[in-house]
This record gives sequence, C-alpha cells and structure tokens, in this order.
Amino acid sequence: MEVIVPKDSTQIAPIAADAICELLERKPDAVLGLATGSSPLPLYAELIRRYKAGEVSFARARAFTLDEYVGLASDHPQAYSNVIRTEFTAHVDFADDAVHSPDGLASDLRQSCAGYEAKIAEAGGVDLQILGVGTDGHIAFNEPGSSLASRTRIKTLTPQTRLDNARFFDGDLDQVPQHCITQGLGTIMEARHVVLFASGEGKAQAVWNLVEGPVSAMWPATILQHHPHATVLLDEGAASKLENLDYYRDTYETKPEWQGI
Ligand code: GLP
Repeated sequence: MEVIVPKDSTQIAPIAADAICELLERKPDAVLGLATGSSPLPLYAELIRRYKAGEVSFARARAFTLDEYVGLASDHPQAYSNVIRTEFTAHVDFADDAVHSPDGLASDLRQSCAGYEAKIAEAGGVDLQILGVGTDGHIAFNEPGSSLASRTRIKTLTPQTRLDNARFFDGDLDQVPQHCITQGLGTIMEARHVVLFASGEGKAQAVWNLVEGPVSAMWPATILQHHPHATVLLDEGAASKLENLDYYRDTYETKPEWQGI
C-alpha cells in the first residue's frame, strides 16, 4: 500500500488525475470505478478541467459506480446514478451508455446485483477504482461486519452512515434510505488499481485502521492491505493518527518520478 500525504493537499487531485490520464492514454477504453461522496470531488473537478483543456478524453472509457440507495426515485438528486452524472460524467465526453450504476429500483434486487457483477466482468474488470472511506471504515457501502469476500448485494446502512449522509438530505435523517446496493469487498478487490481519498480529522481513525491497524471485517477498508496495488491519498487531518507518517513522506519524496502511483 502506498500512502501519500502531500504537504499541500491541493496536490492530491492532480496526483490521482495524472494516474487516470496516463491510464486512458495507454488504454483509451479503460474501465474506471467511480465513487460518490465528497472525497473524490476535487479529482472530478480536476478531470473536468483537463477534459475542457483538451488534455484527456473519456469517449471510449467505461465506468461503474460502487453503490446506490435502494428505493430512491430515479430522478432523486441524491440517487448516486444522478450524483455521479451531476458531479462528473455529464461534464466530460463519456458515451451515454458507458456509465453504469447498480439499480436500486429493480423489482428483483438479488438478480440485479448478480447482473451488475456480470456487466463488470463482461467489460473486462475495473482498471482503476476510486474510493472514499466512511468514518466507520466502510468502503462503498460495505459496513462494519461485511464479509471480506463479499460480492454486490443489498446492505443495511448503519445509524452512523445514515447520520453522516443526512447532510445530503437537508440534514433530515428520516429521508436517508436504510438500504443500499453495494459492490462487495471481493468485487472491489478485483480492481487492478485502487486509489482511496480521505480528508479531515473525522477520517483519522478509519485511516489509521486502514493503513496501520489489523485487517478486520469491523474496519472493512482494511481489506485493501491485501491489495497488490493500493494508493491512499490523504490530507494532514486524515493522516493525523498515522505512526509512520514521516516514513510515508520520505518514501514519496524520494520516489523516482517515472514510477507514478
Ligand atoms: C458514502 C459512500 C462511499 C463514500 C463514503 C465517504 O456513504 N457510499 O462511497 O466513500 O460514504 O463519503 P465522503 O467522501 O463524503 O466522506
């Protein structure tokens, strides 16, 4: 796992954007795994800026989002299929049918979860997966206690996650759905490269567990310690509990530029 904590946190988005642009140059039809939440927003803004500057194209790329609330109307602004469009994909040149999300309104949710897994496999798997992390250590919506080998399925959100996400629903907890569909930890682990963003002290405990704690289903993000190519991009607040911070900094500062992330 590579841990990067730039002194200037505005460097985080360009570092990740460089990796995505390099991937798309090498493989224009690459499959991106997209995350919602606030953590990747600076990255999406940077990619939109680069697209508008003619530096990158998503015309042949495909994308899969991680998760979706169950039961939100298809035009609900907080349905993740809409969020990802509003925040990112509608502002670049993805083909209309190239961005996929789990269907939180499917009449047969179980079948639809299996279908989503099949679609990812048919696309050749995810080349680069963007991730955030919840304060309780969840990735996508794999809440504490999730099987470390789980696949796309229905989950019940914890009270903490619903509380954290109430800010997107006018602060009204009652509006936050109780159920979701999420790619499983086993699904996410199959992405060839995972790039996780965390910012702010509220994430410091989850980040400590992810980077330096023991692997445990109670901190689902810790499964990434088993990933052969995981990059963790942090600001000072999110990194504030890390015991080996100086080592991570030295490692990144002395890294040959050609290595990328
Ligand atoms: C949400 C999403 C996750 C996201 C996480 C953190 O519940 N399902 O994909 O990574 O919580 O969100 P944020 O980046 O807004 O802190």
